[in-house]
This record gives sequence, C-alpha cells and structure tokens, in this order.
Amino acid sequence: MQSPHPSSHPQSPHRGTGSGSDVLVVGGGIIGLVTAWRAAQRGLSTAVADPRPGGGAARVAAGMLAAVTELHHGEQVLLRLNMASAERYPDFVAELEEAGSQETGYRASGTLAVALDTDDRAELRELHDLQRRSGLASEWLTGRECRRLEPMLAPGVRGGLRVDGDHQIDPRRLAAALVTACERAGVVFHRASAQRLSVVRDRAAGAVLADGRVLGADQVVLAAGSLSGRLEGVPHEIRPPVRPVKGQVLRLTVPRAYTPFLTRSVRAVVRGSHVYLVPRENGELVIGATSEEQGWDTTVTAGGVYELLRDAHELVPGITELPLTETLAGLRPGSPDNAPLLGPTALPGLHLATGHYRNGVLLTPVTGDVLAEALTTGELPELARPFTPRRFTSVPQDLTSVPRELTV
Ligand code: GLY
Repeated sequence: MQSPHPSSHPQSPHRGTGSGSDVLVVGGGIIGLVTAWRAAQRGLSTAVADPRPGGGAARVAAGMLAAVTELHHGEQVLLRLNMASAERYPDFVAELEEAGSQETGYRASGTLAVALDTDDRAELRELHDLQRRSGLASEWLTGRECRRLEPMLAPGVRGGLRVDGDHQIDPRRLAAALVTACERAGVVFHRASAQRLSVVRDRAAGAVLADGRVLGADQVVLAAGSLSGRLEGVPHEIRPPVRPVKGQVLRLTVPRAYTPFLTRSVRAVVRGSHVYLVPRENGELVIGATSEEQGWDTTVTAGGVYELLRDAHELVPGITELPLTETLAGLRPGSPDNAPLLGPTALPGLHLATGHYRNGVLLTPVTGDVLAEALTTGELPELARPFTPRRFTSVPQDLTSVPRELTV
C-alpha cells in the first residue's frame, strides 16, 4: 500500500531504481495527465503509458465547461462535483500555464442556451427551473435580448438562458500544457500502449506494454478513457463499465474581418439533438456534437456533418460563409450513470479515473486533486466518494446499483 506521506518513505521499492515507479498511469489523455502531474507534485515517482500523450478525446472535444447549461434532472451529486471543478478552473489554469509555460485558451466568456421554437422554449424553461432550484446563476432572456447579446443569432430565436459562469478552454492546448507540466515535474512517459495489468499476490503491480516492456509500480491508475474496460488482466468483476459514445465535431475558421462573430458559447437543442458553437479567441469556431452509440467507429459521416451544419445554421445562419477547416470524431467514455469512476477499486493498488462521459474537460482539475489524494492517503475526499468504482462491483452493473441521485 502506498504510504500516506510518500516524501517520508524514501524506501519505496521503485523510487529511483529505474525499474518502476510509485504510480503508473495507464492513458495519457487529459485525465491521465492531470493525475500524473498532481501525483508527481505530491512527491510520488510517476510514469505514464500512452503511445501519444496528449491525444484521446481531448483532441476532438470543444472544451465547454458547462456545469450549469448541461445540468440534467437527477444529477445533483454529479452537479456538486462539476461545480467544484468549475470553481477550481481559474487557479488551476493559472498554475498550469505557469508550470507548462504556455496558454490553455481558457476563456471566461459565458454561455447562452437558446430556444428556436415553442417546444424548445418549454424545455429551456424547465432547465431554468431546475437551475434555480439548484441555486445556480442563470438568467432568462427574450429572443430580442439574446440577439442583442449575439447579433449573429437567427431572427427566429424565441428566448434563452444567459449563464455567465459556464466558460470554455481549448482542450488541445490544455493537453499540451499538461504534457509539459508533467515532464517538468519529473513524470516519465513510456510511448506505448499498456496491454495487460500485472497482478502480483492479489495486488496491481504495474503493466506490460504492447512492445513487451514490463513496468512495475506500487499503484496503477487506469485512465484510458473509453478504452479503460479493455485492459487485459483486470479482474472481470472490477473491469470499468465504460463504453464509447461517438461524437462528431466540426471546426470552422472565422476570418478576422468577421469578428466578433460570436462572443460566447451558444447552444440549443434542435429536433432533440444538442448543438453548440464555441468561439475561440484565435478565430476557431467549434461546432459539436453528435452523440452516437456506434461502438469503436470513429468515421466522420456525411450524415453527421450534415446534421451539425443544418442545426448550427438554424441557430447562426452566417456560419455558411465560414471555411470548414476540420472534421473529426472522438469517443466519450460513457458510464452506466453518466458519472465518472474515481479512486481505489476492490483490487489493492488499482485506481480508476475514467467514465467522465460528457464532462472530461470540466472535471479535469477536480479529478487530478482527488486522485492525488487517493494515491497518497488511500482515501477519496468526501466530494468524490459517490463516484467510487465500487458502486458498480457489489451488484450487477445496471442502474439499480447507482445511488438514486445519480441516475438520469
Ligand atoms: N460536453 C459536450 C459533449 O460531450 O458533447
């Protein structure tokens, strides 16, 4: 078991020997990277196994930090975690930008969620009620008020919710800053995928990489996003129940002459599908996202692109003038209750940091903090206890095993 105070236990078998580490993080997406960075800051010798650190779903994600506008009925416990992470963001970004000597594209510009017809408006009114009952800051605007804020919105917008606390970050720059911060904190990168968990005397003890290397570690964190359920050697009963949920995303470029095109993230539900437009300071405009249960398929389809452009065009007709610069699909790590799996598992030495589903970017700061705490003390902080992976291991993995407040 990892000592509660690692710096006072220099006798760790792996410390400084070159044969292994205190912590091995399997997966170098933003969740694995933030875990590694925070663990290294706590004095734990830390390694990451990933063929392309900084890749994964963050390469595709729009980077909305939408704790308030993506609130769903029955997700009060998840809301607490989401808000805790949103509140950490300004300090987290300041610390990371200094540690990584690069900007992350964090933009405290707020979000406008709008309605295009009477059904949308009724749905948005319900969301507004839920937000107010949850004590969240959100203001109802008429269509005219929405267009005064964002003149590029379609004339048909019927009303909307102004949420000044839902911000955005550029997930690619976030990932790049995390890679640098990790390197500077002494994290060792093994650029290969982990194939098999090593288990020695009923305890996680490292991993075997696809290139045959064997890495030893006192503790292993499985943070491989939608692939987390596929690591060989993980006992069946604690295998994380994550599944890939495909999201297709488009990137457009706003020419300088058109700025400001949008000043904040704009989103809506159009014919039952969520569409959002996230404008970056550098002129990029991200349009997302489909939500598809298609297994491991990451094909960008004509239908996906068509639907995103059609819905975004209803919201902001002027997008048709903009160059379309990139189309990409990624896989969200969905869990049975849409909430992450954080911390120790029933197998000693094995932790999970996965299942973040639609909230991976938002939950990055808090995930790093709670995993570092679990790795150094063996305990999850109170805030993260509802997200223990053990909620899925005592009874079959269906929604009856989930605390009521977590179900949608
Ligand atoms: N949170 C945005 C998405 O998952 O599409």
